[in-house]
Amino acid sequence: MDTLPENVLRPLQRTLDLFEVTPDTVREGVAYFIRQMEEGLEHDSDSHDYLPMIPSFITHIPDGTETGLSLAADLGGTNFRICSVELNGDHSFNLEQYKTKVDKQYMVGTLESLFELLARLVRYFLSQHHQDQLQSSEKLKMSFTFSFPLDQTALNKGTLIRWTKGYDVPDAVNKDIVDLFQKELDKLALPVQIVAITNDTVGTMLANAYSSLSGHKTVLGAIFGTGTNGAYAEKLSNIKKLDPSVVQKLQKFGIDDMIINTEWGSFDNKLEFLPVTIYDEIVDSETANAGVHLYEKRILGMFLGEIVRLVILDLHKRHLILEGYEQMETSLKLVSSSSSLVSLTNLPRRATTKRLSHRVLSEWAFPTEALSRIEVDDTKGLKVTELVLSETLHLNTTLQDRIIIKAVAHAVTSRAAYLLSIAIAAVVLKTGRLGITLENGEVKPTKLNDELVEVGVDGAVVEFYPGFKEKLIEGLGWSQLGDAAKRVVVTIAKDGSGVGAALCTNSHIE
Ligand code: BGC
Repeated sequence: MDTLPENVLRPLQRTLDLFEVTPDTVREGVAYFIRQMEEGLEHDSDSHDYLPMIPSFITHIPDGTETGLSLAADLGGTNFRICSVELNGDHSFNLEQYKTKVDKQYMVGTLESLFELLARLVRYFLSQHHQDQLQSSEKLKMSFTFSFPLDQTALNKGTLIRWTKGYDVPDAVNKDIVDLFQKELDKLALPVQIVAITNDTVGTMLANAYSSLSGHKTVLGAIFGTGTNGAYAEKLSNIKKLDPSVVQKLQKFGIDDMIINTEWGSFDNKLEFLPVTIYDEIVDSETANAGVHLYEKRILGMFLGEIVRLVILDLHKRHLILEGYEQMETSLKLVSSSSSLVSLTNLPRRATTKRLSHRVLSEWAFPTEALSRIEVDDTKGLKVTELVLSETLHLNTTLQDRIIIKAVAHAVTSRAAYLLSIAIAAVVLKTGRLGITLENGEVKPTKLNDELVEVGVDGAVVEFYPGFKEKLIEGLGWSQLGDAAKRVVVTIAKDGSGVGAALCTNSHIE
């Protein structure tokens, strides 16, 4: 960056500053996040004003000694997976699974075609791995991991609030998902009973608690995959929106906690806190669920590459980058007039040669994996970056272009990591497990302790993006957790949702 001329450096810096997250921002975000959690625990899950905070009706947090065989079906962003999981009672398990991509035609088709497909896939799995079970009169318990916002009223009852992640089967909205799936399983006379519907984050939390050998309590299960979300255990007495008769029934069994699916992708849908750049607005407008899950759209892998692509186009339009390419008036959809950038589109034209490639003008053309290669490029002349930009966006770049694009990639992903630390810090503080909590924005001690807690996360960005996890942890230290953040152990809970779903059947109370 030091080598950039002043007339480029200054306007570039103004753009990079739009992505800056300071320790104060993190603290403000944490306080606001906790307020949104509290509101969500009191009110209906289907609102834009606070976090959905969906009661999962899962009340048993495993300790690794659980045993038994159960089935788990998992419909996520891209795949449908069916597994049978045998828990061995010693933190270990045996798993058989079948995974297949869900065709676009089913993701946006009718509800009958989608659930009929899922039932047929369950039959196929049983015929391959549990042929004997197909003839059995005893039903196998199955958990269904359904990673979309649900209004859940019992362990095996949940109506769909809205689709996310590219799904759009309109007639399934507001319907009970277990009912729809069970009907199709019954039509095929399969000996399978869905006893639980759950979210992938709940499964991740349970799987981490079951598999962990560290002895630390798992306080949060989180996903940063095609979507982002987190689940944690909350005291029944704090879940004000739960039917009191349910609370009484559970308390009779000596149960005090229930796992809550926060659906934090929806944090601050009203945009009272989150940073808003023109690039965020454009990205949102490009998605099927515009106007919601706005936190998710600033954090997740698939969005980061797109934000960087839009910044590149904007910098080009402002004559700060890619000067060898012709200016194209349509190269950046400026959907908002709120940005000062708009006025910069009137700069004089310069002598130009080439047109920008179709790739760089195409939505979603810049994969996050490319960003990670750019961020670690320490070669002389940024040769790796040169190759990546040429391969992915078909761009020929000068060294100066590459220095700028690298700085943009760094700014966009740093913002994502620090924003993510807000959700994690807020949940850890809300549990009070580290000996501190936040009440009306003030840090309050709870029970003094020096225990370590575990946060199980699943997701490629945290796992593979260079420096992402470190920034996330740095952000936790900036939060009201302060020094206590050092006692948060972030572990990678790979593919936990299958095992976790199987563990849900342990919360089944007849
Ligand atoms: C969904 C959540 C899910 C998350 C991670 C989000 O888009 O709304 O239910 O847990 O993705 O898969």
